[in-house]
Amino acid sequence: MKVIVSKDYDEMSKKAADLIVNMLIDKPQAKFGFATGSTPIGLYENLAKAEKEGEISFKYSKSVNLDEYIGIDKENDQSYQYFMNENLFNKVSFKEGTTHLPYAPEADEKYAKEYDKLLDEFGQRDVQILGLGPNGHLAFNEPAEKLNQRTSIIKLTEETIKANSRFFESEEDVPKYAISMGMADVFNAKMLVVLASGKNKHEVVKRIIEEGTIYPEFPASFLHLHPNVYLFVDEDAYQG
Ligand code: GLP
Repeated sequence: MKVIVSKDYDEMSKKAADLIVNMLIDKPQAKFGFATGSTPIGLYENLAKAEKEGEISFKYSKSVNLDEYIGIDKENDQSYQYFMNENLFNKVSFKEGTTHLPYAPEADEKYAKEYDKLLDEFGQRDVQILGLGPNGHLAFNEPAEKLNQRTSIIKLTEETIKANSRFFESEEDVPKYAISMGMADVFNAKMLVVLASGKNKHEVVKRIIEEGTIYPEFPASFLHLHPNVYLFVDEDAYQG
């Protein structure tokens, strides 16, 4: 795992973007895995800027996303689809039908199977972008005794509902279920770009760097199994 420490959020976002810009210059038909959450917003801004300035183009690339809430529709401004449209897809040149998010109108595993089929056809990504839950979750793979290999319907933990309630009017409005890629899917990328910023991510970053074990109660520990991980952190996340 390569740990890249930046002085602040902006520098971290820029450094991560530079890595991806170079990758896309080398391979215009790159396959992306995108993440939501507040952390990758700066990275997406930099990518949109790089395309606007003619450095790169997303015209020949395609993407999948990690996860989505269940029980809010795609047009809702709290959906991850809306987030991706606003922060990236509407700003860059992906061709129609080349970006994909999981979608489940209700908590039924049949929607997870559908997404697995799409992922199997999509194949290995060139890069998967990842944020970190403060409890060490990856996508919506929550700390548990067992982790899912493939896409599943997830009951969100109290901790995650609390952490994500900052985006909603109240905690009661946060969906209780989500659909998420499983761990095998999350890791099916040549390179993982993990981003963590701010003091509230210090504990999780410290555990990733310092703990020498891998266990499902801390999903982020599995990052050590992947041979090509870039962990971009700012000083607040690194030092606390
Ligand atoms: C959600 C997403 C995760 C993301 C996490 C962190 O729970 N499902 O994929 O990593 O938020 O969010 P933030 O970047 O806002 O801290």
